[in-house]
Amino acid sequence: MSTILLAGGAGYIGSHTSVELLSSGYDVIIADNYSNSCPEAVRRVEKITGRSVKTYEVDIQDKTALEAVFRENKLDAVIHFAGLKAVGESVEKPLLYYRNNIDTTLSLLECMNEYGVKNIIFSSSATVYGEENPVPYTEEMKRGTCTNPYGWTKVMMEQILEDASKADKELSVVLLRYFNPIGAHSSGMIGEDPQGIPNNLMPYVAQVAVGRREKLTIFGNDYDTPDGTCRRDYIHVTDLAKGHVKAVDYVLKNSGVEIFNLGTGTPYSVTEIVDTFEKVNGIKIPHVYGARRAGDLPESYANADKALRVLGWKTEKTLADMCRDTWNWQKNNPNGYNTAE
Ligand code: NAD
Ligand code: UD1
Repeated sequence: MSTILLAGGAGYIGSHTSVELLSSGYDVIIADNYSNSCPEAVRRVEKITGRSVKTYEVDIQDKTALEAVFRENKLDAVIHFAGLKAVGESVEKPLLYYRNNIDTTLSLLECMNEYGVKNIIFSSSATVYGEENPVPYTEEMKRGTCTNPYGWTKVMMEQILEDASKADKELSVVLLRYFNPIGAHSSGMIGEDPQGIPNNLMPYVAQVAVGRREKLTIFGNDYDTPDGTCRRDYIHVTDLAKGHVKAVDYVLKNSGVEIFNLGTGTPYSVTEIVDTFEKVNGIKIPHVYGARRAGDLPESYANADKALRVLGWKTEKTLADMCRDTWNWQKNNPNGYNTAE
């Protein structure tokens, strides 16, 4: 069976993808510097699947250190999750974001080149569609203008990967553009564990529910949308993880560059998220309406037809599943992975 290196695999999406890859029979190796994750997440992946995962604590920017992973293992493909992802922080510390996100990509590609590894899947984002493109987004649209350095790193990394593939015809690249991943594994053992005050909606809602935050502020209710709040394409992280298994199957058999949106194709508003969370979990989420957040678009959602047509993948979980599983994870782990089991 093939061996897949998950760069940044201890994180939120990487840990869920590890579960699905291991359950599908793939061997998984994780390289992570735990800058936004912890080894406990990997231990829980092992518990859920009953399989072991080899790990390397390494800063992937450091090519010399990363080489050990390639020297000591026969890798069939790499999934590149390793990146910094806080939009607001990227505005304050752009150089940190450009350095980390681009250098990790270059180190991985250089090691792959030296050790003859020809398959890579990259965690891109719907943010690359920028401000200009109309919803729903389709993969052939041109990348747009981003509102922050985080978004630009994704645009640049897509370009780097496309150029590398043009120069090496054997290199197979899959760019996965994620929409808004939320939810947690149905076991409640792994989930999203943001450090500090959450930037994203669902972790914030979950922390209000568990009493760590007093109330949610909804950023703007005067948008040109059905209820005035922004609409997003929320996708259950387990559906997203299963999309990676399909992408691995695909990348191993093909060459060139292929782009896939991973979303449901159905947008929900902030108000609908709050209402659904309250209803399925029987918990009130105190909330107030505040000013718009700079850089937010009124609507972002996928046309997800290509992933179905080419990969045979589509989402299976509902918004109610996403809200239920988020709460199951949060109430079992009120302080994330710091909770004693
Ligand atoms: P995450 O922060 O939970 O996971 C990223 C992992 O990469 C962490 O474990 C972190 O420790 C590791 N990492 C970062 N820099 C590293 C380095 N230099 N060396 C080694 N490890 C390093 O984030 P996530 O939500 O799992 O996201 C995974 C990827 O998907 C990221 O690239 C992110 O930008 C992208 N993405 C995420 C979302 C989302 O909403 N979560 C949306 C679109 C795209
Ligand atoms: C954000 C990033 C995007 C990134 C994604 C995943 C911006 C502009 N975009 O997407 O680049 O890929 O996270 O990391 O930051 N909301 C509230 N109150 C809150 C938090 C959020 O009302 O406390 C609203 C937002 O205004 C938005 C929606 O909830 O309308 C979703 O927000 P969020 O979860 O941060 O995701 P995005 O903004 O879509």
